[in-house]
Amino acid sequence: MKESDTIHFLDLGSSQIPDRVRELAWHHPKRQFVAVDQHPLWPEEKLPSNAKYVESDVIQYMKTLREGSVRIVNADFLLNEMPEEQIRELIGHVKRVLKSNGKAYFSEDRQNIEDIRKMLHEHGFTTFARDLTKKEAEKPKTFFNEVRIQRPQHWRESRKELPVTWPVRIVATKRIKATRQKD
Ligand SMILES: C[S@@+](CC[C@H](N)C(=O)[O-])C[C@H]1O[C@@H](n2cnc3c(N)ncnc32)[C@H](O)[C@@H]1O
Repeated sequence: MKESDTIHFLDLGSSQIPDRVRELAWHHPKRQFVAVDQHPLWPEEKLPSNAKYVESDVIQYMKTLREGSVRIVNADFLLNEMPEEQIRELIGHVKRVLKSNGKAYFSEDRQNIEDIRKMLHEHGFTTFARDLTKKEAEKPKTFFNEVRIQRPQHWRESRKELPVTWPVRIVATKRIKATRQKD
């Protein structure tokens, strides 16, 4: 596969204002970025030429990608909006499209972390989880991190039923299959 066909960073459930992809694409003009969300791009939003916005369901979009065509998959606060069966299906696609040793990053609230890690392990990923650093939370700033961290009162008012926690980041690595040495 040609390097020019590679997606370097794929943001799933980016929101209509894909801050993370916009910011990263400005800083890495030679790399290709894709943001996917089920809602249309916000009308005033301007993305650099190396960034593409796709209005689609994430699973339908993943089905269009070739095996081993993506270096990094990212999803901030997407999985908590999806039913478990769909999360499993999505993780299967993430595994298929990632290059060997490719990484997937998931930001989520603390209470969802262990369930998601378990599903990732079932698909053969190795994972670790750590608190989002303050620096990561500020830049590139995504709407959901900003609200959780800078304006938690707003979050509590708008989503009363959901507890607010400092975001946790899961880092998942697609293991390369060990090849057997011939004697
Ligand atoms: C909680 S928001 C997080 C937005 C952004 N990632 C952030 O951190 O600010 C979740 C986003 O996922 C999108 N989403 C949820 N389910 C989706 C699906 N099945 N396909 C595509 N987008 C989806 C929603 O439209 C929403 O923009």
